[in-house]
Amino acid sequence: MNRILLIIGGGIAAYKCLDLIRRLRERGHHVRVVMTRAATEFITPLSVGALTNERVFTDLFDLDDEREIGHIRLARDCDLVVVAPGTADLMAKMAGGHANDLASTILLASDKPVLIAPAMNPRMWLNPATRRNAALLSADGVTFVGPGVGEMAERGEAGPGRLVEVPELVEAIERLLPTATMKDADGLLAGCHVLVTSGPTHEPIDPVRYIANRSSGKQGHAIAAAAAALGARVTLVSGPVAIADPVGVLVHRVETAAEMMEAVRGALPADVAVFAAAVADWRVDRAASDKIKKGAQGVPKLALIENPDILKTIASGRSGRPKLVIGFAAETSNVVAHAREKLRTKGADWIVANDVSHDSGIGGSQSGVMGGDANLVHLVRADGVESWPEASKSEVARRLMIAAAGAIGKSNKGR
Ligand SMILES: Cc1cc2nc3c(=O)[nH]c(=O)nc-3n(C[C@H](O)[C@H](O)[C@H](O)COP(=O)(O)O)c2cc1C
Repeated sequence: MNRILLIIGGGIAAYKCLDLIRRLRERGHHVRVVMTRAATEFITPLSVGALTNERVFTDLFDLDDEREIGHIRLARDCDLVVVAPGTADLMAKMAGGHANDLASTILLASDKPVLIAPAMNPRMWLNPATRRNAALLSADGVTFVGPGVGEMAERGEAGPGRLVEVPELVEAIERLLPTATMKDADGLLAGCHVLVTSGPTHEPIDPVRYIANRSSGKQGHAIAAAAAALGARVTLVSGPVAIADPVGVLVHRVETAAEMMEAVRGALPADVAVFAAAVADWRVDRAASDKIKKGAQGVPKLALIENPDILKTIASGRSGRPKLVIGFAAETSNVVAHAREKLRTKGADWIVANDVSHDSGIGGSQSGVMGGDANLVHLVRADGVESWPEASKSEVARRLMIAAAGAIGKSNKGR
C-alpha cells in the first residue's frame, strides 16, 4: 500500500481534495492529511477526517499530535507528499525554506518526493514572484501538475491557475508512487547516469503552426522513472508533452529536434542513453517569422530539410559514446525487419521496436500505442530478437532498465 501525505492549502479549490481523498482510497492508497490554518477556513478537518478515517493534523504545536507521531515522522512516514491546492503562499514558503507552521515545517523536513498542484488567481500565478518560486521549486526537484487554464471561481477571471481535475491529479500522483516491484530492484543502477529522450518534437512552420506527431511521451517518461527508481541519476530531455515530470529526474524541456540534439550533447557523458522521443525527421527549411496568411499567394509550399539524426550521431560518436545506446523504432508494418535495419544503419546496441499503427489492438484502445498506456515491444539486438508480451508502459520500462543494468555489468544476481 502506498502512503500519501496530502497537504491541503488555503484556496477555494480545497473542496476538490474531498473527492481526491475518496478516489485515492478507492485505489488502495493510504492517505494522511495535514491542513494549513487557511485551509480550515474552506473545508473542515471533520469532513477530511471522516473521509480518511484518520486524525487530521493542523497545528505544529499540538502537544498530543507531537507526542503521538511528531512532525518529523509525519514528514517521513510516507512515499509521496502532495500539496493541493498549492497556494501562492505555500509555494513562496517552500521556495524560501520557511518552517513557521505545520505544513511548511513538514515540507522542509521531508526527504520524500513532492508533487504540487498549484491553484490560484491567474494574476497570482503569472506574478514574477510566483514565477520565480515555481522555477526554484522545479530546480529543487519538486514536480508540478497543472495549473489548468480556464474560468476561475471569481467572476470574470480566467487564465492559468485552476487546480487540475481530480482524475488528472490521481494520475500524476500514481506516476510518482514507487511500485512494489520497483522496490525489489532498488539500487540496481546506482552510480549510473541514464539519459532518456521522450515525447514528440515541434518543428515550426510560422510563429503559430508546427509539424508534430502523436507521441505522448508516456513510454519515454516511464523509462526515466524506472531508471530513477533503480537508483540511476537520470536526465530526461523531453519534447512538448502534457504529462507530469517523473520524480527525481532532471528534466530539460525542448521543442525542436535541433534543440533536443543540443540538450542531449550537453547531458553527456552517460552510461546508458535511451532515445525514445519521436523526433521529427524533417523541419521546414525557413520557418516564416510572421503568420502565413491565407489568400492571394495560394496554398503555401513547404520546403522540408532533414533534421539531425540524434540516435545515429550519438551511437556513432567516437569519444564519449554511452556504454549502451538504445533506440526506439515506431513502425506501422514489418516492425522487426525495419528495426533490424535501423540497428544496422544507426549503430545502436539495441532497438526497441513497437507497432504504433492505429489498429494494432495493443492496449485495447482506439489509438493503440501512441498516447495509450500499454506497449508490445520487440527487443532487437545484434544476436537476436526478444519479443516481450504486451504490458503497461511502466512494466516495459522497468524490464528494459533491468536488462540495461545487466548489459552494462550491473547484475542483480545474489541481491
Ligand atoms: C476566498 C478566498 C479564496 C482564496 N483562494 C486562494 C487560492 O485559490 N490560491 C491561493 O494561492 N490563495 C488563495 N487565497 C489566499 C490564501 O488563502 C492566503 O494566501 C493564505 O494565507 C494561504 O495560506 P496557506 O498557504 O497557509 O494555506 C484565497 C483567499 C480567500 C479569502
